[in-house]
Amino acid sequence: MEEPVLVLPGSGPEALANLAIGCEACRRCSLSAGRRNVVVSRGNPQARLIVIGEGPGAQEDEAGLPFVGRSGQLLDQMLESVGIDSNRDAYVCNIVKCRPPDNRKPTALEMAACRPWLEQQIALVDPQVLLLAGATAVEGLLGIKGGITKLRGQWRAGEGTSLQGRWLMPIFHPSYLLRNPSRERGSPKWLTWHDLQDVQRRLLQLQAAS
Ligand code: URA
Repeated sequence: MEEPVLVLPGSGPEALANLAIGCEACRRCSLSAGRRNVVVSRGNPQARLIVIGEGPGAQEDEAGLPFVGRSGQLLDQMLESVGIDSNRDAYVCNIVKCRPPDNRKPTALEMAACRPWLEQQIALVDPQVLLLAGATAVEGLLGIKGGITKLRGQWRAGEGTSLQGRWLMPIFHPSYLLRNPSRERGSPKWLTWHDLQDVQRRLLQLQAAS
């Protein structure tokens, strides 16, 4: 039988600290056996933006923090270029909290096992905007497979309990951008920069309206 999700009581920062304790004890899927550290989050739990990636790589597993390796550095730089500081203005996490061996894509079962943690993170941070970095983030959160080239840059209105009332923006994963470094007009990096500008615009509009 699948291990239940440990939910400790509390609200605000206490609830997120309790969530981290629950994640550290989690053995809901076999990824837990190979982890050095559970990678729960970094950034600002009060941010209006959540960035969701795929899962920890080697450096994240080592540090216990998401997006601290090369792709994280690129993500930070690109966010910074549109005025978003990833630690001040965003809460950063992943679809799965433990590193998949050899950095393979997490399986559907692993994503499903980890989902209750992600849903709690979204509920507790209560962001207006979710940035989905890469196809696996889109699949893990929305159940939509493949086609990041078509999905990126298109706003989606969140549906269902944890996403209702929130805006979602899929983008290319930064590791894909590391493999495709051209900044030419129409290149993946150029498109992502425009997507991030769009995200910053929407955050400012939502702030002005509230
Ligand atoms: N790639 C991800 O999707 N997440 C991380 O935390 C690091 C690399």
